[in-house]
Amino acid sequence: MESVQAIKQRFGIIGNDIKLNRAIEKSIQVAPTDISVLVTGESGVGKESIPKIIHSLSHRKHGKYIAVNCGAIPEGTIDSELFGHEKGAFTGATSTRSGYFEVADGGTIFLDEVGELPLTTQVRLLRVLENGEFIKVGSSKVQKTDVRIVAATNVNMFEAIKKEKFREDLYYRLSTVEINLPPLRERKDDIHLLFRKFASDFAQKYKMPSIRLQEDAIQILLKHRWSGNIRQLRNVAEQVSVLEQDRSISASTLISYLPNAGSNLPAVIDNTKTDSDFSNEREILYKVLFDMKSDLNDLKKLTLELMRNDNNEKVQKENQGLIQKIYRDEEVTTYEETQDASTETLTIQQTPQIPVQTPIIQDDKYHFAEEIEEEETLSLHDKELELIKKSLERNKGKRKAAAAELGISERTLYRKIKQYDL
Ligand SMILES: Nc1ncnc2c1ncn2[C@@H]1O[C@H](COP(=O)(O)OP(=O)(O)OP(=O)(O)O)[C@@H](O)[C@H]1O
Ligand SMILES: [Mg+2]
Repeated sequence: MESVQAIKQRFGIIGNDIKLNRAIEKSIQVAPTDISVLVTGESGVGKESIPKIIHSLSHRKHGKYIAVNCGAIPEGTIDSELFGHEKGAFTGATSTRSGYFEVADGGTIFLDEVGELPLTTQVRLLRVLENGEFIKVGSSKVQKTDVRIVAATNVNMFEAIKKEKFREDLYYRLSTVEINLPPLRERKDDIHLLFRKFASDFAQKYKMPSIRLQEDAIQILLKHRWSGNIRQLRNVAEQVSVLEQDRSISASTLISYLPNAGSNLPAVIDNTKTDSDFSNEREILYKVLFDMKSDLNDLKKLTLELMRNDNNEKVQKENQGLIQKIYRDEEVTTYEETQDASTETLTIQQTPQIPVQTPIIQDDKYHFAEEIEEEETLSLHDKELELIKKSLERNKGKRKAAAAELGISERTLYRKIKQYDL
């Protein structure tokens, strides 16, 4: 049996962490069997190596290895991708096609992001796991296949089961053995080791001397939360390697590459979210906050306009004080110059119920965020939903473009779509 060390070398896995070693050891042990394995761990911890190790140490190693990202395949085509389809099964099915389960007969299929599988596909998957049977889309013929399944997820499967997004029976069938990979922040001794390895790889790639961290920079590296885990560490190592002329890196230089290092930005607390969700969500929250800010300023403009246009002299007088109060907000002092573009929107007849004591919205996002009350944060979800919907519409449903526009990853967008049932 190959040793853990040899496997690490063969698959380019860096680190000596005890939990990492345990995960590799478990992979070596289950490899020769046909047991289904579920690989768990946060985003970027290195889950993708595990199914490769298992396949290459199994009797299936000469068979096919197919990795499927369940989160990236549209719901409408996933059954056909996995199980194939008959000619004429749906518009565009001009010929019969074999799915991955047929092609990988005798091999291994890695179902990445398995938590994203639609419920109907989960039923088909359960069947193939239980007796190796599947049916092509649009066919009635039962086919047999012999495939070993390794699945991976970075979401909490119990939550998904509770929300009835994932079948409990399938979960137990998939996770006969669970292999968990620890987050980077729990692998303190590996952090600098990994950084040095990445720095040396990038030095070679870009033909420059390797960067080196000064002592205080190493301390920063160890203290950081690394919400994106090894993927994030690698990105930081690459950026610093490419952009810094001085190859000796100080703490302050390193900090400038770490998002949110040392800041006390407000965060949404939700135990079901992974750390990478937090940074993505923070981005989306800022967008929402700025959107709300501009809505509020629009409302103020509208109020001003309505008050000004009131022909009743008595009301005009009463309004004077309020107008001055609103004018104190510097945002509105620029109103005169900017109103040309927004005048068409000022045609609402009814006086809206606008609280005049609107808090002054400052450009300082930290300050602004503190002022948001719980009640208002609830409506942030609606705002987020609306923002996502609009962006998807604008981009004709193209998730990649919408994600880019929203400044979030495609994966996060995908989760949001699922979360809001869009
Ligand atoms: N121990 C390690 N040594 C060296 N590189 C690693 C190690 N673990 C992960 N990496 C690298 O980190 C990156 C992220 O790993 P991987 O793609 O396996 O993450 P993941 O756990 O599948 O994340 P996600 O859930 O987001 O898909 C890859 O480039 C991988 O090569
Ligand atoms: Mg992955």
